[in-house]
Parts: sequence; structure tokens; C-alpha cells
Amino acid sequence: MHHFSYRDGRLFAEEIPLEEIAREVGTPFYCYSYATLERHYQAFEASLGNVPHLICFSVKSNSNLAVLNVFLKQGAGLDVVSGGELFRALKAGADPRKIVFAGVGKTVREMEEALRAEILLFNVESEQELLALDRVAGQGGMKAPVALRVNPDINPQTHPYISTGLKQNKFGIPFDTSLEVYRQAKELKYIEPIGVHCHIGSQILEIQPFVDTLGRIKELVQRLREESIAIQYLDLGGGLGIAYEDEAAPAPSDYVDALLQELGGLDCTLIFEPGRVLVGNAGILVTRVLYMKRGPEKNFIVVDAGMNDCIRPSLYGAYQAVWPAVQREGEKITGDVVGPICESGDFLAKDRLLPPLEPGDLVAVMSAGAYGFTMASNYNSRPRPPEVLVRGAEQWVVRRRETYEDIVQGESVPEPLSGADPVP
Ligand code: LLP
Repeated sequence: MHHFSYRDGRLFAEEIPLEEIAREVGTPFYCYSYATLERHYQAFEASLGNVPHLICFSVKSNSNLAVLNVFLKQGAGLDVVSGGELFRALKAGADPRKIVFAGVGKTVREMEEALRAEILLFNVESEQELLALDRVAGQGGMKAPVALRVNPDINPQTHPYISTGLKQNKFGIPFDTSLEVYRQAKELKYIEPIGVHCHIGSQILEIQPFVDTLGRIKELVQRLREESIAIQYLDLGGGLGIAYEDEAAPAPSDYVDALLQELGGLDCTLIFEPGRVLVGNAGILVTRVLYMKRGPEKNFIVVDAGMNDCIRPSLYGAYQAVWPAVQREGEKITGDVVGPICESGDFLAKDRLLPPLEPGDLVAVMSAGAYGFTMASNYNSRPRPPEVLVRGAEQWVVRRRETYEDIVQGESVPEPLSGADPVP
């Protein structure tokens, strides 16, 4: 469900035609719908009812300060994975007591920053990290609140690059040794083990892997409590998938209901770290057709956005729908929608049956709100596109388009090398 729809053949973001936004900010641009963000959050929140819980929106999926602000206003917490994301979270006004921090490679500096901010939970991913955190917390005379990220060895049946809860993945502490590591954590002077964390992957379309994971985790929590390790928080991570095409994606309420049923009477505050399910369908990437190349074997629709702006199709072979901004009658065309980057892997859509298109037309790459802008780069020295937030008939540029100067900012040629040395 989202608020991008056709009215008299023209595609609107809420109350504004995309052509109008394009006239103001140029192309390509990301566009987010406020109503969709709010609705997705509320759907998740409502399904949890009176169960003690905290929804920590996963910043990596869309880290724009204005988007974070939409969720924070609804009472959300945030899931961060780096010092940079922690900085953003605090800048957006997040309550540090609602921030959880995951990641396999936290540095001393990042630990110090998060301790100083007094976040809710460090999701610790290895024994060595646990010892490092104990040391850093001790130096600051603090106690670090910790959940161990447990790897339950469950197959989430998703793309291998985004499966994280299998034995062969780098994430978390193996389920079988986790009890031992908790015992160790309990003995550490500056560590307070108060939670269990897991996250098995992303774009997961079945509920069962989540339920199976919770089943394993539940057993662990009971064992830990028997050993007087007082677990208060159960952080079940993110990962719920969305419909990019015509997949049957579970409703958040079905996912939550299934988990609550599995949870039974276990008394814990539940933490969720949804990313994609909140923002994925709330954002699009709008790009302009530059050229139509009708090749001997293939047709190419060359647009002004490339893999640097939206890498999911190139990186995962991900499908994202392409909709024209203006619907036109006429003969359809099958082709690849490609960008200007100098790589054959630079495509936004492959072998797609599309309505008639001409240079100058706008098309929208749908479901681009999650892992769209956050994975964009300056490859080929291309300025990253602006991000626009629409609410009803209002629109705001919430990140301006980068300039060429932005691209070279911070670079310099060392003085001894800068003279005009004659080439020998
Ligand atoms: N929590 C943790 C610890 C995570 O690693 C992630 C995502 C999430 C929560 C949020 O997962 P979500 O609800 O969005 O599935 N770039 C890939 C997705 C990578 C996901 C990484 N971790 C893509 O574009 O499909």
C-alpha cells in the first residue's frame, strides 16, 4: 500500500504530480510519501497493542533526517550500525534510551560515543567484541547494557547476500555457544546482559522462519533466567519483506500475531527493527528518459539515473517496477532500462515490457524508499540526487542535489606534487 497513484493518466505523489516536482528539482530525484511512512508505522504499532514493545526503525534502510523525524514523532526508537548512524539518530532528536546498536565491527570510538549517549542496548556480535566493550565501559566508569546477537542457524529463504542467520554467515554468536558467552558476560564487571538479539535476514516473505527463530530464542531466555541472568529485552530484528512485484508479502499484523502466539507468556519487552517494511514502498526514484536505443538484439531505454543512484537491481538482480509518469496509449516496447554508468551491470530493469516512451518522458522506479538513497554513491563522479518529501499538497527538498564541488570536497593534491614538473 502506498500513496503513488494515477489521476487522469498522470502519476501523483499524494496530491502532487511527479512532473511538477521534476520541474522544480530536476531529475533524477527520490520522492517519499509522508502519508505512506506514517501509515506503515501505525500499522506495525497498532498490531502490537498493549504488548510492551519498542519499534526501532532501521536507519540503514533510509537515513534521511526528515524521514527519521516522521518515525520519531510517532514514538519510534532507532536501530543503528555505526557511529555515523548514531550521529544521525541523535541529530534527528532520537531519545538515546530508544537506540539499539548492532554490527560485527564496532570500533572503540563508536563504543565510547554510544556509551556517552547512554543508548538502550549494544547488540554484541562476538566474544572479542564483548571483552572490548567491557574494557571501554570500564575506562569510562560505566556499565554497558548488552544483548548478545544470537545466530539461530535458520534459513530465511532470501537472497544469499541478505541472509544473516545461518551458521556460515558472519553475524552473531552461534546458538550453541551463546549460553556460555552469556555466563561470561555475567561475570564481566562493566557489562550488564539484559537482552537477546537476533536478525535472520532481509526481504523475508515467510513468517515461519521468524517463528522458528523465536522458538529457539525463547528456550535460551528461559535457560538464562534459570541462571539469574535477567533478560528484559527480546530484540527480534527486522527483515519482513514487501511486495516489489506481485509477491504475497505477509501483513505486519500477521507477522506480529504469529510471534506473539509463539512468545506465549514469556515476560519481556519486545524490540523490532523494521526497515524495508516501513519505507520500501513509501519511496520512488524518478528519472528522465534520455535516449531510446533500438539495438539489433535488444532495446535500451537510457535514463538519467544509474546504478550509483539505485544499486539494488545491479547488486542483487532485484526487481523494481518501472511506471511512466504519464500513461500513453500505443505500442508497448520490451527493453532494459539502463543508466549512464560505464558498466554493463548498470541497469534499473531488465527485459521489461513497458508502455511507449520517448526521450524527455519521466519514469518512476517504484519501491525505492529502502536501501535506495542510502546505498547511492558518487561512482563516475555523479552528484547524488535530491530527496523530496511530499505530504498532501506540500513538498520539501529534504536533501539537496549534490554539486560537482561537493564531489571533490575534502580532496587535495599534495603541495610537492602540485607544481608543473616537466615530464622527463
Ligand atoms: N536489523 C539489523 C541488525 C539489520 O542488519 C537489518 C538489515 C535490519 C534490522 C533491517 O532489515 P529490514 O527490515 O530492512 O529487512 N541492502 C539490502 C538489504 C540489507 C539489509 C541489511 N540489514 C537490500 O537492498 O535488499
